[in-house]
Amino acid sequence: MLLKMEHLSKVYPGKKEVLSDFNLDVNKGEFICLIGTSGSGKTTVMRMINRMLNQTEGSILINDEDISKMDPVKLRRKIGYVIQNVGLMPHMTIRENITLVPKLLKWSEDKRNERAKEMLKLVEMPEEMLDRYPSELSGGQQQRIGVVRALAADQDIILMDEPFGALDPITRDSLQTLVKDLQVRLNKTFIFVTHDMDEALRLATRIVIMSHGKQVQTDSPDNILRHPANEFVKELIGKDRLIQARPSITTVGQIMLKDPVAITPGKSLIQAIQLMHDRRVDSLLVTDDAGILKGRIDVESVDYSFNTATSVGDIMDTDVFTVDSDSLIRDTVGRILKRGFKNIPVVDDNHKLVGIVTRAALVDIVYDALYGEAHAEQNHPSTGTSDSKKVGDDE
Ligand SMILES: Nc1ncnc2c1ncn2[C@@H]1O[C@H](COP(=O)(O)OP(=O)(O)OP(=O)(O)O)[C@@H](O)[C@H]1O
Ligand SMILES: [Mg+2]
Repeated sequence: MLLKMEHLSKVYPGKKEVLSDFNLDVNKGEFICLIGTSGSGKTTVMRMINRMLNQTEGSILINDEDISKMDPVKLRRKIGYVIQNVGLMPHMTIRENITLVPKLLKWSEDKRNERAKEMLKLVEMPEEMLDRYPSELSGGQQQRIGVVRALAADQDIILMDEPFGALDPITRDSLQTLVKDLQVRLNKTFIFVTHDMDEALRLATRIVIMSHGKQVQTDSPDNILRHPANEFVKELIGKDRLIQARPSITTVGQIMLKDPVAITPGKSLIQAIQLMHDRRVDSLLVTDDAGILKGRIDVESVDYSFNTATSVGDIMDTDVFTVDSDSLIRDTVGRILKRGFKNIPVVDDNHKLVGIVTRAALVDIVYDALYGEAHAEQNHPSTGTSDSKKVGDDE
């Protein structure tokens, strides 16, 4: 067990218990999300793991070693902490920002510089950026630096307290992707506080739901969706996410249309318009002869560029958001709805176009989730789904 928290409680002098009997065992490589109402004790737990705060009762072990007996420097080498809503230091270069903690941990300068370069590579930014100041980067670039900074000291356990709390949904979405990707690639263990159930469902291997200093439920996202412990959890999940409680339809591959309308980059704009007209669509995916997705065009861009451009390749938008057929519908739905996409192309590992998920298909899914039980009873009595809400849940 990498991290073990047993019977933790916290009482501030003159106050009632703000945390009571908190228990959690965390394995290496897990992504734990703490979620709950304001004041429920999430930050208190985080601060205790990092020993910025002492528990009133209980114990915290890292690799079976009691942290209260551990040398603080040793503890810092094992645990990184990103505080609620703290950005980059404006008067420090990107290099200095990234290597702040490695420096505190007394890494040599060579090692720090090496690490700073590695970190920049992880987010695909050029090395020149290292000597710039945060204000010389775009907002999105600064955010990405903020994420890799948390990983720079190579600690096993990363604590993040609402790191994306103040961001708009699109930036948040892309940083979530980044964090999850890096966490898996670098095999780090995360304890991550959020207010946002979407975020928790998307990132977590397990979610800890807190209310008034108590652990209400600790379980995998799927189990929380399927077996919410009480009304509080149901409320937190919300009705719009009932969709995810349907175990039968889970991946994009199950709902995508398999024959999206596509065109090659060499075709003319007139041919593009003709195809849109014939197939009654207002956008086309662009693929090369091998079917590899290259971009997309829509009727507005064709109209706008009609007199200046000649081929589809000239005007296509190459920055296209895609999903795989194994992607979970619950993630895809969130993205389509949040970003206002009309549809999302589905690609395989080689970026070959294999299908498309449309908003219309999602409407069916949501409808099914909300009303499907009743329909299932009428239409498919033999499937047995009407016997009990829980049929199929435990398979
Ligand atoms: N130093 C302190 N002295 C007294 N009470 C405190 C102190 N720090 C926190 N508390 C109380 O402990 C409770 C839990 O606080 P905590 O910061 O852990 O909540 P949280 O779940 O992180 O909330 P939020 O989502 O708002 O960040 C709150 O009622 C808070 O008022
Ligand atoms: Mg907090």
